[in-house]
Amino acid sequence: MILLEIDRQVHLALPDSVFYRAAEACLRVMNISSPCSLSLTLADDSGIRHINKTWRNTDKVTDVLSFPSLPVTPDALFHEQDEKTQQAWDSETGAFFLGDIIINVHQASKQATDYQHALFREMTYLFVHGMFHLLGYDHINKEDKTTMRNQEEKALQMAFETKVSDEELLQAAREARAFAHTPYSHYKVGAALLCTDGTLYTGCNVENASYGLTNCAERTAVFKAISEGNKTFEAVAIAADQTAPWPCGACRQVMTEFAPKMRVLITWGENNVEKTTLDALLPHGFLGFEEDQHG
Ligand code: THU
Repeated sequence: MILLEIDRQVHLALPDSVFYRAAEACLRVMNISSPCSLSLTLADDSGIRHINKTWRNTDKVTDVLSFPSLPVTPDALFHEQDEKTQQAWDSETGAFFLGDIIINVHQASKQATDYQHALFREMTYLFVHGMFHLLGYDHINKEDKTTMRNQEEKALQMAFETKVSDEELLQAAREARAFAHTPYSHYKVGAALLCTDGTLYTGCNVENASYGLTNCAERTAVFKAISEGNKTFEAVAIAADQTAPWPCGACRQVMTEFAPKMRVLITWGENNVEKTTLDALLPHGFLGFEEDQHG
């Protein structure tokens, strides 16, 4: 069990569950069953630079910083119950306080572009890296670096294998609304696309003064995934404020190209949810003009 205190200083179109999932995976890799807690700050370039300067005397922008609550090795952390480790048990929550992680969302976004993978992947990686620092790992020498890297790899695999629940996908879509560019309709839509490898891509609607050039939230998410080499879609969640955001005909046809049977979840208002499949929304979608496709 992990308790996270998340301070979102900048907007990130991903839900808290991304970090819960990754944290649980790290604890499983470490065989830790005691309840733990940590504090996570999502900062920008200047935010992380300030923290780096204040606490590490390093006036530099970086991607992730971690401050373990105790300077002990992974083995000592939970298995040696000395006075020092006792101090990290929080009497209020009953959880072991691991420390602080700060992630620079802007730097993560640049790195995701450089590595050609989703921001979701980069954020998960940076968080897992910070987690293992809190758990007593380091990468000062080559051997330690390899050990830490192996642990990270195991946790990442576990995190991506854990099935994203419908509620998490819907929540990701709700978060994704924040960046919608809607000066004309004021109808903000968010989408979260789940790929079969566990990657999540989010999208929002982007309107244009010419109206006709508007891109829907679902297509934004789909195009992000395709442009990063991911075309195996499992489900899409779409969120709007007041009325049901059933995907428009254009989005149905675009998604049919890649995954005609994918699941489609929508949510709006307080907590209205409907679930269906793409082939129910678009029977006989166009799949091309090859003879073997149309018989
Ligand atoms: N819109 C979406 O983003 N997704 C949908 O499923 C339906 C409509 C957007 C397009 C436009 O910006 C606004 O909603 C109003 O049509």
